[in-house]
Amino acid sequence: MEHLFVSGSAEETQQIASKLASGLEKGATICLYGTLAAGKTTFTQGLASSFGISRLVSPTFIIMREYPVAAHPIIKTLYHLDLYRLNSVEEIKAFDVEEIWSDPASLLVIEWPEKFVDILPKNRIDIYFKATSENQREIKIVS
Ligand SMILES: Nc1ncnc2c1ncn2[C@@H]1O[C@H](COP(=O)(O)OP(=O)(O)O)[C@@H](O)[C@H]1O
Ligand SMILES: [Mg+2]
Repeated sequence: MEHLFVSGSAEETQQIASKLASGLEKGATICLYGTLAAGKTTFTQGLASSFGISRLVSPTFIIMREYPVAAHPIIKTLYHLDLYRLNSVEEIKAFDVEEIWSDPASLLVIEWPEKFVDILPKNRIDIYFKATSENQREIKIVS
């Protein structure tokens, strides 16, 4: 399935994310594609807030951040992974990603997945971000 949204503000992007989050029955792997400032982290903040996580910051420098989820019957942990600085499959596997994406209690959100799509699970949600003006973003959700 493919859905195209046009967002006019960071808040609207977070609302689109919240809507997606409320439809998740169990954990999933969500890949966020797009250039710098396209809205990937903003979207992840929208996902997080609908799971009761109030402050989510970009994991760029530490690669992966982990947040407990209390507001969902099955999903217990949100993992936010930023692959921008990683260069090899071994480096990613060191984060136990295979264990995370096979666990229905884990929601894995990945920024900069482009270099590693070959190793990512086929069963995933891909989201493409495109900045069309200063405050406008096209957001295509493919699942
Ligand atoms: N419609 C929009 N959706 C998302 N972010 C927007 C939008 N309009 C403006 N912005 C701004 O663009 C920037 C997006 O940054 P961020 O989410 O960190 O991007 P990325 O993680 O893709 O690098 C933020 O400063 C945000 O306020
Ligand atoms: Mg980011």
